Amino acid sequence: LPQMMYACLVIIVGVSFFGFILGNMATLLFRMDAERERHLSRVDRAEAFMRHHRIPKPLRAKVRAYYRYLWEGRHGYEDRTVLATLPPSLRAKVVLALHAELIDRVPFFRGAERQSVEAIVLAFKPRVVVPGEILFRAGDPADALYVIQRGVVDVIAASGVVIATLGEGDFFGEMALLDHAPRNATVRATDYCDLFVLEREAFDLVLERHPDFARYIQATAAARKS
Ligand code: CMP
Repeated sequence: LPQMMYACLVIIVGVSFFGFILGNMATLLFRMDAERERHLSRVDRAEAFMRHHRIPKPLRAKVRAYYRYLWEGRHGYEDRTVLATLPPSLRAKVVLALHAELIDRVPFFRGAERQSVEAIVLAFKPRVVVPGEILFRAGDPADALYVIQRGVVDVIAASGVVIATLGEGDFFGEMALLDHAPRNATVRATDYCDLFVLEREAFDLVLERHPDFARYIQATAAARKS
């Protein structure tokens, strides 16, 4: 009898475990499908819009490529909408986890206190730019600092000469903000880029509250000027 009970127990545990796994897999597949559906309906809407307005074919191809990049890079997630539903303390932790790689790449963040990093990273807004997109031109008024999470940009002098190429973990746009002057150079994306934007108001606040960060930004700007 004990052997039979044991065998029954093994069967019951086995069957429930199997059911549990199957159930989880079904939920997962269903979720992935729902996400995909949402993405495809967005793409469909864009296609209909472009047809209606007779957008030229090459431009349509660019829009399509952008959507593909969004889908492949981040599964169509809008970081901001997801994050907006979280309470601030959790949001800060999730943002840090999301950007662990970036934080590793920006020398200042690596050495800074966790609390400063949390506050600064929370002030960033994500932005995707497409190849060839101009972030701003030399002489434009300045409204933000940009940090590159992924991708490459060229810094181009007013004369048209490329004076620097910046990549992951680099930032740009600090000079005009610090000096309250127009942009020194044009910045153009050479590639798809995931950027973080720190708008002027947030930038000023961050500099005021985090003197170490202010010194780091000022030192970089000074080095670039010389
Ligand atoms: P800003 O003047 O706001 O806009 C152009 C940006 O290009 C500038 O800030 C810097 O961030 C960046 N930049 C200008 N000169 C150099 C350089 N020599 N090396 C790297 N980046 C630069």
